[in-house]
Amino acid sequence: ARVAVLVSGAGTNLQALLDAAADPAYGASVVVVGADRDDIEGLARADRAGVPTFVTKVGQFSSREHWDLALADRVAAFEPDVVVLAGFMKLVGPAFLERFEGRVVNTHPALCPSFPGTTGPADALAYGVKVTGATLFVVDAGVDTGPIVAQTVVPVEDTDDVESLHERIKGAERRMLVENVGRMAREGITITNRKVRFGL
Ligand code: GRF
Repeated sequence: ARVAVLVSGAGTNLQALLDAAADPAYGASVVVVGADRDDIEGLARADRAGVPTFVTKVGQFSSREHWDLALADRVAAFEPDVVVLAGFMKLVGPAFLERFEGRVVNTHPALCPSFPGTTGPADALAYGVKVTGATLFVVDAGVDTGPIVAQTVVPVEDTDDVESLHERIKGAERRMLVENVGRMAREGITITNRKVRFGL
């Protein structure tokens, strides 16, 4: 299967996918990496792996809708079967989701539906939960609300700060992402009444 990945930052999730995809048995190859900003480590990781990249910034367009359409066009040119948002810090819009209906997944560093949005690890720490984790879900129009593909749990330690907690989450998140994107690539997924199962 052909996988497109969108990033906004360090790209450690992307790196985990690139490393897994180096083995043909994985069943997925990363065909393009897109970003909404330049000069990020995620793009450098794609370059080093020989994967084509592009940057489509919101500021280059007259509206968010035009940006969304342009982003969808750039991604569609690579004919992906799956689009992975891996630390992509923009909400993709209706045009994008319509183009890749049911094939866009995102990873969120909390156990959905708890702590949606951009500060999941900090919110979990502030709430005082004893376990948190990461969620892989099929993107819908809401913020971190889509049908859940997989979740992974990590403990919150008494000594954690936001950084140490997010690092622990990211370790588990990368393993979850690699395992489940591989299965999606090899088996496909079916969504019935919000429930996701592997297979067509
Ligand atoms: C991940 O924890 C992702 O879930 C969150 O931001 C982090 C991105 O990390 N939205 P990286 O860029 O893949 O290293």
